[in-house]
Amino acid sequence: MKIIVVGSGGREHAISWKLAQSSLVSQVICVPGNGGTAHEKKCKNIDPADCSYLDGDKSLAAYVAIAKHENCDLAVIGPEEPLAKGAADLFWAEGIPCVGPKKDGAQLEASKDFAKAFMHKYDVACAVSKTFTDPKEAHSYIEDHGSPVVIKADGLAAGKGVVVAATVQEAHEAVTNLMELGKVGEAGEKIVIEDYLEGIEISVLAAVCVTEKTSALKTAVIVPFLPARDHKRLLDGAKGPNTGGMGAVCPLSDVTDEVFSAFDKNILKPTLRGLIAEKTDYRGFIFFGLMLTANGPKLLEYNVRLGDPETQAVLPMADFDFAALCRAITDETLSSFSCKWKDGFVVAPVAVSSGYPEAYEKGKTVTVNEDFIAAADAKLFAAGAVEKDGRLITNGGRVLSCSAFGKTFDEARENSYKALKAVSFEGMFYRKDIGLDGAAESVKL
Ligand code: AMP
Ligand code: GLY
Repeated sequence: MKIIVVGSGGREHAISWKLAQSSLVSQVICVPGNGGTAHEKKCKNIDPADCSYLDGDKSLAAYVAIAKHENCDLAVIGPEEPLAKGAADLFWAEGIPCVGPKKDGAQLEASKDFAKAFMHKYDVACAVSKTFTDPKEAHSYIEDHGSPVVIKADGLAAGKGVVVAATVQEAHEAVTNLMELGKVGEAGEKIVIEDYLEGIEISVLAAVCVTEKTSALKTAVIVPFLPARDHKRLLDGAKGPNTGGMGAVCPLSDVTDEVFSAFDKNILKPTLRGLIAEKTDYRGFIFFGLMLTANGPKLLEYNVRLGDPETQAVLPMADFDFAALCRAITDETLSSFSCKWKDGFVVAPVAVSSGYPEAYEKGKTVTVNEDFIAAADAKLFAAGAVEKDGRLITNGGRVLSCSAFGKTFDEARENSYKALKAVSFEGMFYRKDIGLDGAAESVKL
């Protein structure tokens, strides 16, 4: 099988690496890929800008054209944006099976209003919420409702569309910024105001196959992966500004069987029922962003893809053929696929450029002692790093993650930090407490 992977982040490096391990896979075409996939066994980077046959086409159709040119048998789409714009629809229309929901299913991430209406309709455990298109009504709701509340722009806003407002004044300011001043553009024309939930966050990634056929055969399924946790704040002890993720850990010892069965009963199963009832053709991954509250797990959000950096911690735990899983998703046999997991832990801190998440310099050379990394049972996944003249060069804030396995959590943690010592670039910074108690963001006002 030849597989095209769309995306350029650490998640896509991890996906490509895991796919390439499969004996079913002859080559992985990474579009555009990054400095990590450039060196990955069986992987080949293709930048659409370098393809003369595309004639400068920068639309989604370019991905399909590359897949056809390269005779790919399957597509895996990493990020949400192409999915929300209908990339999966295009691949399927051209006869290339695609892992990732079509445009209608992708609305679960692309519109908070759509997602909340779905959650409420199918009784998915989540916070009470109300949607507004008129800022006056939103301000007046806040006056009546009080604080704390969470204000969410309806559309995709690259992580800048959610404000946890501790006071009524902060809530009013958020409404003004999103709806009246257009701080996140069109994405904020509609907003959702949601009750504030207190607790600790976790991420559950899952494979999904819901189609007309599987629904009729009663084999439509959502297969959850091991729970993981992303650490979003820049500094140790969950302090400092929010980032795109400073590290992840998988699995989690605070997710007991009891918590997991409450998630299954009150969130996963109702979601499956909803997708079936709405006749959504959903073949891909789903990400449940959960808050573990005193009243059980509640769903904060759906993402219609794997998480970043969670994927870099979850996939190294997989003891199954990931390409076979992807094929089972598209050929509607997921219900008979069994995901086996390693016995142990993965800790995956992210190394970032100095200054991130604000302005930072690019173009720094990354040096890596590969032998040292392998000896520590670790794997580097590049994110904001490209290959130039045979060297790895930084070109983003989050440069790479270092995923290390250990039989125990402590061993995995030791391995990952030992391995990171074999990596260096000017201005390199990373959190030292990924996975430790107190490192997770517990949302408490
Ligand atoms: P979302 O994009 O909806 O997941 O929101 C982004 C972040 O905002 C989450 O990861 C939480 O940290 C926080 N958040 C979202 N909804 C709530 C809520 N109802 N209560 C508390 N925090 C929330
Ligand atoms: N780690 C959160 C996300 O992928 O959206």
